[in-house]
Amino acid sequence: MDRIIVNGNGPLTGQIPIAGAKNTCLKLMCAALLSDEPLTLTNVPRLSDVATLSELLESLGVQIGRLDDGQTLALSAANLSSHLAHYDIVRKLRASFNVLGPLIGRTGEAIVSLPGGCAIGARAVDFHIAGLEALGATVELKDGYVHAAGDLRGAEIEFPFPSVGATENIMCAAVRARGTTVIRNAAREPDTKALADCLIAMGADIEGAGTDQIVVRGVDRLHGATHRVIADRIELGTYMIAPAIAGGEVECLGGSRGLVSSLCDKMEEAGLEITETEAGLKVRHTGGRVKSVNVKTAPFPGFPTDLQAQMMALMCFADGEAVLEETIFENRFMHAPELIRMGAKIEVHGNTARVTGVDGLNGAPVMATDLRASVSLILAGLAAQGETVVSRVYHLDRGYEQLVRKLRGVGANVERVSDG
Ligand code: UD1
Repeated sequence: MDRIIVNGNGPLTGQIPIAGAKNTCLKLMCAALLSDEPLTLTNVPRLSDVATLSELLESLGVQIGRLDDGQTLALSAANLSSHLAHYDIVRKLRASFNVLGPLIGRTGEAIVSLPGGCAIGARAVDFHIAGLEALGATVELKDGYVHAAGDLRGAEIEFPFPSVGATENIMCAAVRARGTTVIRNAAREPDTKALADCLIAMGADIEGAGTDQIVVRGVDRLHGATHRVIADRIELGTYMIAPAIAGGEVECLGGSRGLVSSLCDKMEEAGLEITETEAGLKVRHTGGRVKSVNVKTAPFPGFPTDLQAQMMALMCFADGEAVLEETIFENRFMHAPELIRMGAKIEVHGNTARVTGVDGLNGAPVMATDLRASVSLILAGLAAQGETVVSRVYHLDRGYEQLVRKLRGVGANVERVSDG
């Protein structure tokens, strides 16, 4: 199994290109199921999650062609052969539960494995199911699978919480339903807006995506389209935090403030300089220690849960005490004990972590059980004394394209080693 070795070696300088957004791309790939004409996606990130979802879509009969070094995918669902999304794949990738809405929207029938819990929490799907039932589907849970069938018609749906996955599943199911669907308390994440933009390019009639109320007027069919995947705001935020920890100045190419405004606000409060440039966003460490800032995760435009671990790594080096509150997932501080092994001072009580900044961390062998927790350990290693060895690198391959190359490009001492 591969490991990544990081040696703290001072300030970073240069540019890091930001890839297409993983979470957006996965939902766009699912949307290809809605049409019998090809959907071509460009700026696709080269990640194992994309490969896993491709495997699932191929098992449903979708033909997938890869061009341009894997960054363009042409997906054709002209000849769907199955509406069964098997547990073996769905358990590996929760986002694959989002074939449910497109499958029932297109064929009137879907059998999709329940994804189950994961390292960061229970992650229920009750809103997805209640939404489909409101659209007129009959939904049964049998042997770990969701069996949904029916001729869908528009409905008014209000989510108890602005769930990203449920908003996207219901939007996809509603685009081909009869009549108008109104989704209230909808997720406002850029990923959800990007999915709506792609569906509109395919002929859907959707208004209000990006706000908390989305109106979908059903259409008879969707056609093919070519759509560019937006920049990955979580990859962007991660690389913005790198110079905040290690010092220096890094420009993230393709980034924009609108994707990470809550992070920018917090980083500025901590004393970092952030400038929008023609090519992206530049972060400059102005010297000395950053200030501690409190962070509470929230749905967009609030602070993203997917950047909480990276922010915790930064706060380990800050001057003062920071309180980090996680409100989206119940078990998302697995990085804390590993950071503590590197010398951090962190106390976790329920969904709150109190981080008292220290003068410096020491490298250590560490591992993490999810993608963002893993990357927070790499970030901490950039400014730790000595060698940090991060194992279970497959988590990082799910969400960070060419992580080692990108960090080396700005001067970090990082390498990937294989145990053979
Ligand atoms: C979540 C994040 C998303 C992130 C993704 C991957 C939020 C709001 N969502 O999306 O930004 O990119 O993880 O890490 O930050 N819930 C239910 N019932 C449901 C659906 C959700 O109770 O049917 C709860 C979840 O358990 C969770 C919350 O709602 O506590 C948010 O879930 P949701 O947005 O659906 O999660 P993801 O779509 O996975």
